[in-house]
Amino acid sequence: MSFLEIKNLHVEVEDKKILKGLTLTVEKGQVAAIMGPNGSGKSTLAYVLAGKPGYQITEGDILLNGESILEMAPDERAAKGVFLAFQYPVEVPGVATMTFLRTSLNAQRKTRGEGEVSTPEFMKLVRETSAHLGISADMLKRGVNVGFSGGEKKRQEILQMAVLQPRLAVLDETDSGLDIDALKVVADGVNRLRSPERSMIVITHYQRLLNYIVPDVVHVMAKGKVVRTGGKELALELEAKGYAEYVGEAA
Ligand SMILES: Nc1ncnc2c1ncn2[C@@H]1O[C@H](COP(=O)(O)OP(=O)(O)OP(=O)(O)O)[C@@H](O)[C@H]1O
Ligand SMILES: [Mg+2]
Repeated sequence: MSFLEIKNLHVEVEDKKILKGLTLTVEKGQVAAIMGPNGSGKSTLAYVLAGKPGYQITEGDILLNGESILEMAPDERAAKGVFLAFQYPVEVPGVATMTFLRTSLNAQRKTRGEGEVSTPEFMKLVRETSAHLGISADMLKRGVNVGFSGGEKKRQEILQMAVLQPRLAVLDETDSGLDIDALKVVADGVNRLRSPERSMIVITHYQRLLNYIVPDVVHVMAKGKVVRTGGKELALELEAKGYAEYVGEAA
């Protein structure tokens, strides 16, 4: 059994069909890259996995560890280990990053019937991970993402992932807007979280990211479904040839 099984998924937003029969499996421990043209439905897939409201699933199913998650609220999914790093991270004024991280972690633990994380354990994890990611103590005291640069927000997403230790992490264009050094820092942060117990879906437009986060498999999405699957060399092919053949073919 695959850890994530998406079967013939059809999704509409405001009566507009966006995902049209998407089938995708991700194995336990696998890092799967998803590439595809603008508007092909990549972010929609990420939101549907996380359980964002407003998406109607008209057909198909999503199984996590053999269990359908379609009826689960976003917080239940999070407690089951689903994590989404946003393409456009949101600012949360008035909530310090530290408080946010700790509250999120404890909420998830509570839903799982676990006790709260101890202060020393939590502080150690945040300090170590922040140091690796180049996030200063000052930034941890500021409101979540408030006034952070694009690249700083992306680092915060990886910090959240490191604290929450998800079973399925979905990273939506975590590389967009990163300079070369930040790209390496973020990729290194992701690589440190690779584990046989953690599956990752890395959505990206650029082959460059996949030099640093080497995927086990690459899927191409076009017009609301997966149209091709291959090894990491597929990303190079796409870089060279573009999406013309898929955009025509998947119509
Ligand atoms: N709330 C909405 N209302 C109407 N259309 C929507 C809505 N959300 C998404 N769409 C449409 O669904 C399609 C897929 O959008 P999505 O954001 O999933 O694409 P994407 O593959 O992530 O693109 P990009 O590479 O540009 O990030 C687009 O045509 C978009 O306009
Ligand atoms: Mg997108």
